[in-house]
Amino acid sequence: MNTPAPIKLIDGKAAAARVIAEVKTQVAAMKNQGIAPALTVILVGQDPASQVYVRNKVLRAEECGIRSEEHRLPADTSEATLLALIGELNADASVHGILVQLPLPAHIDETRVLQAIDPLKDVDGFHAENVGGLSQGRDVLTPCTPAGCMRLLEDSMGDLSGKHAVVIGRSNIVGKPMAALLLKAHCTVTVVHSRSANLKELCRQADIVVAAVGRPRLVDADWLKPGAVVIDVGINRITEGERSRLVGDVDFDSALPKVAAITPVPGGVGPMTIAFLMKNTLTAARLQQEAPCPSIS
Ligand code: GUN
Repeated sequence: MNTPAPIKLIDGKAAAARVIAEVKTQVAAMKNQGIAPALTVILVGQDPASQVYVRNKVLRAEECGIRSEEHRLPADTSEATLLALIGELNADASVHGILVQLPLPAHIDETRVLQAIDPLKDVDGFHAENVGGLSQGRDVLTPCTPAGCMRLLEDSMGDLSGKHAVVIGRSNIVGKPMAALLLKAHCTVTVVHSRSANLKELCRQADIVVAAVGRPRLVDADWLKPGAVVIDVGINRITEGERSRLVGDVDFDSALPKVAAITPVPGGVGPMTIAFLMKNTLTAARLQQEAPCPSIS
């Protein structure tokens, strides 16, 4: 009798649906205690991709029973106006999560804006207090995409302790927090980036590869150890002939025969990011119940 081939595809849509189901149950329980979790999303300008992301976040929140509010500000909004809005939302006890969609227009200082958000409402996990807490291995609000990647890895591999993980990319949104989460899970972690020497050789030593560089199909089978688990965070639009389509940072067709498991693009990491934003909104609401005084006034 033939044994069936192991399932290599990591199904991010199914994993995200499980997270959303957990969130819905917990939101309902919280509402029974008289707390209605609420998320506010701020978009400055008209970047088409950001508009789609923001819309999806708001729709997903509504589906979970989380009250959501969208602030769309013109591209020429001053930094002072944006900071004033954040100040109002910080002081509003009925708002539990605040997310400012990035990138911001060039005239606005991103760091100043992210630092203005109350750390207890920082559902992106980008405030320095949360970044610092994560690097100390504390349970804090954690960036959504890396948190989603961790869930996919744990679902696929169980205990990650002692595994060698290579993270390709060192962004504040994915690469750095991903490395911190892998360390917290007792992995040996190597972070490689555009200036790394021997990128491919380092990657070939990995039990886990997380690719987050925004370079279409950079990683192919030649970069991978047989049996590696690959998480592809890249979402790159490419044009082939007349058609345009989305591809990851990994050459999926080349990698598939060699790996133990891999996320597709789309349908891998993408749905997990929004699912973990919902989970973070719930966590933020809980944190604020435990510490009802706003930490920034
Ligand atoms: N832009 C791209 N990814 C993100 C994200 O995770 N959070 C925010 N706020 N903006 C983004």
